[in-house]
Amino acid sequence: MRGGSQTHLLKASDGHHYVVKLTNNPQGIRTLINEWIAQRILSYLKIPCPEVEVIEIPRTLIEANPKLGILRNQIVQPPQAGWHFGSRYPGDPTVLTVHDILPDIQLVSCRNLHHFAAILAFDKWTANADSRQSVFYRARLLDVLASEDKIPDPEYAMRGLVASMIDHGYCFNGTYWDFPDAPGYGLYYRAEVYRKIRSWDDFEPWLSRIQSFPESILDKALHEIPRAWLDSAHFEELTSLLDQLLKRRGKVPQLIESTKNKFPAHFPNWR
Ligand SMILES: Nc1ncnc2c1ncn2[C@@H]1O[C@H](COP(=O)(O)OP(=O)(O)O)[C@@H](O)[C@H]1O
Ligand SMILES: [Mg+2]
Repeated sequence: MRGGSQTHLLKASDGHHYVVKLTNNPQGIRTLINEWIAQRILSYLKIPCPEVEVIEIPRTLIEANPKLGILRNQIVQPPQAGWHFGSRYPGDPTVLTVHDILPDIQLVSCRNLHHFAAILAFDKWTANADSRQSVFYRARLLDVLASEDKIPDPEYAMRGLVASMIDHGYCFNGTYWDFPDAPGYGLYYRAEVYRKIRSWDDFEPWLSRIQSFPESILDKALHEIPRAWLDSAHFEELTSLLDQLLKRRGKVPQLIESTKNKFPAHFPNWR
């Protein structure tokens, strides 16, 4: 697949396809941990994102597929046999087209642009040192929303373009595991997605969910991470990172505010 971590699209034994980040990817093994924790947070916040799984790549698959690996200096470095990170492709890739980018004329028809306000709050909270990335595909909005967020509106059952948030490798400033907080972090490259933001109300209920985010979700995520990704020497560093994350829940509004002040053209209707 495209992108700096040289992901591969694999079909897993559960019948689903996954975009797999390998442990030897050029952006570092910590990006897999960041992806995992981010997905657990997003699921709790109820912001659409792909399901994730730990994917076992067996030695036989590596030996039979010499192109499966990371290209460095024109040489493919195969992955280790074992556990890697998988982000579930939202359907059968031979049938369902997934777009990385849309022209504005199509972007405006996306059914859930309001989730770009939600994800901005998340990106500020986690210091995602990357621009926002999402994939778009045709689905019913019902299928990408968490059950509690389903609104009994007939439009939600109609098929249309939906956005699902991906690529969280640079949350927590990537491999640095700190929170440098720059106004441009997490911003989507098209201002169109923020056009309907008029007030703080547009960041709800996600902002309130962040303010009262339970420690138990982070604890659970931490204990799900395969030991092959996190040796004991780094376990404490990660625990301390997650402690800091909880402590900075209240800082999110001021971080959004500084983004708005620095990039007013992205928020033309927010006074
Ligand atoms: N769950 C997914 N479903 C469909 N496509 C995906 C999914 N996750 C990633 N992709 C595709 O794979 C590409 C690389 O994934 P990404 O997470 O952005 O990794 P990178 O760190 O290499 O940028 C994305 O640009 C997107 O096209
Ligand atoms: Mg990417």
